[in-house]
Amino acid sequence: MSEVRIMDHPLIQHKISYIRNEAVGTKEFREVVGEIASLMCYEATRDLKLQDVKIKTPICETIGKELTGKKLAVVPILRAGLGMVDGMLKLIPSAKVGHIGLYRDPETYEPKEYYCKLPADCDSREVFVVDPMLATGGSCSAAIQMLKDKGVRHIRFMCIIAAPEGVERMQREHPDVDIYIGSLDECLNDHKYIVPGLGDAGDRIFGTK
Ligand code: PRP
Ligand code: URA
Repeated sequence: MSEVRIMDHPLIQHKISYIRNEAVGTKEFREVVGEIASLMCYEATRDLKLQDVKIKTPICETIGKELTGKKLAVVPILRAGLGMVDGMLKLIPSAKVGHIGLYRDPETYEPKEYYCKLPADCDSREVFVVDPMLATGGSCSAAIQMLKDKGVRHIRFMCIIAAPEGVERMQREHPDVDIYIGSLDECLNDHKYIVPGLGDAGDRIFGTK
């Protein structure tokens, strides 16, 4: 079974509480989402593999460490996932970036695909799928299935806020995918929004409502 990790770092918790406030406007919301993504990236990459490397400092020769193993890719689920990309790339600047476009049908809440463009060598990379919100889990599950259908095998999912319903669905449908969560909230409301949540992440990042 996959790992489900709630990131309880005080800075992450503080910043998530900050952006839940409906009075926070687009500019600040976007900036803080990026900061949270960086902090989550830092925590979620703790287990990346290292190898020894010889270094000559101005003083002497020594053995240091450098990253080894699979190269990385970040794949945001459009639109809201875009808000997390720059924060991730600050820490892993050589990662490639793919895009998966999905929106939730407002009547059925089912994900509808409208775009998919991935790095050519995505199947040999470790892929971080990012989306601030995991609600029913439909969008995330569909995005991960799209990646698997293209041969990607090493996938992790990172979200800022999750509902228990989405986590359960992910564990049922993709038990091989580790999930990193900023806050595990209470439930979904009748419109499948996360409670207490932060509202519509895409609209708040892009100012579309
Ligand atoms: C939101 C969010 C997730 C999805 C979560 O996107 O960013 O992708 O809903 O809901 P789910 O777990 O029930 O599928 P939305 O469809 O609103 O699109 P947007 O990012 O373009 O606003
Ligand atoms: N999508 C969002 O942006 N927010 C929610 O609470 C649920 C789905």
